[in-house]
Amino acid sequence: MSTYLIIGASTGIGKKLADQLVDSGHRVYATYFKNKPTDPGSIEYHYLNVLDENIQFDFVSESLDGLVYCPGSINLRPFARIKPADFVDDFNLQVTGAIKSIQAALPRLKKAENSSIVLFSTVAVQTGFPFHTQVSASKGAVEGLTRALAAEFAPNIRVNCIAPSLTDTPLAAPLLNTDQKREANALRHPLKKTGTTQNIADMADFLLSGKGSWISGQIFHVDGGMSSLRV
Ligand SMILES: NC(=O)c1ccc[n+]([C@@H]2O[C@H](COP(=O)([O-])OP(=O)(O)OC[C@H]3O[C@@H](n4cnc5c(N)ncnc54)[C@H](OP(=O)(O)O)[C@@H]3O)[C@@H](O)[C@H]2O)c1
Repeated sequence: MSTYLIIGASTGIGKKLADQLVDSGHRVYATYFKNKPTDPGSIEYHYLNVLDENIQFDFVSESLDGLVYCPGSINLRPFARIKPADFVDDFNLQVTGAIKSIQAALPRLKKAENSSIVLFSTVAVQTGFPFHTQVSASKGAVEGLTRALAAEFAPNIRVNCIAPSLTDTPLAAPLLNTDQKREANALRHPLKKTGTTQNIADMADFLLSGKGSWISGQIFHVDGGMSSLRV
C-alpha cells in the first residue's frame, strides 16, 4: 500500500484518480476548494486554496509516495483582450500553486523510497492553437518546472507531467456542453474521441506506481493523437 496526496481531487481527473487509487488499496489524502465531496468514501478530504500564501500539509502522514497537482484553468481568448494581470492569475494557479504544494510536501516525499510527483500541462504547449496564449504560457512553465525539478530531485523523487487534450471534466464543460460541440471536438482528434477522466487517471496512476520507476522528467501527451498525428 502506498500513500498519496492529490491536490484538487473533488472533481475531474483528480477525483477519478483518487477513486482509482483507493480502490487499488492505497491511502489517499485529497483536497477540495469550492466543491466539498458529499460522499468521500475512504478518501481523506481536506480544504485547500492553493492561492493562499502559506500551504501546509499537517494532516498528511509522515511519509508520502506521491503528490499530484490538479488545479488548472482553460481561459481561451484573443491575445489582445487578455490583461497582463490575467496571465499572472493563471500562473499563480497553475505554477506558483504547484511550487508551494511541492515545497510543502517535500519533507514527506523525501522520506519515501522512489516517490513520484505528477503535474499537468496541456496539448496546447506542444502544438500552437489560437486563443490559447493564457493557458499555454503557464503550462509551458509547468513543463519547464517538471524537467528542472526532475533533475534536481533525482535519483530519489521522480517528476513527470501529463499533457492532455480536451477531457470531459467540469473544467472543460463549456467546450462540451452541447451534442454539436462534443461531436466537433471529437472529430478534431485523430482518434476521433475526446478524453475521459479514466484515460488521464490511468497515466497518472502508472507514473505514481512502481511501473513508472525508471521514468522522470517526461511530458506525456495523452491527447488522442492531437499533438503528433496528421490524419
Ligand atoms: N479537462 C481538460 O480538458 C484538460 C485539458 C488539458 C489540461 N488539463 C489539466 O488537467 C488538470 C486537471 O483538470 P480537470 O479538468 O480535472 O480540472 P477540474 O475538474 O476543474 O478539477 C480541478 C480541481 O482543482 C481544484 N481547484 C481549483 N482551484 C483551486 C484552488 N484555488 N485551490 C485548490 N484547489 C483548486 C478543484 O477544486 P473544487 O472543485 O473543489 O473547487 C478541483 O478539485 C488541470 O491542471 C488542467 O489544466 C485539463
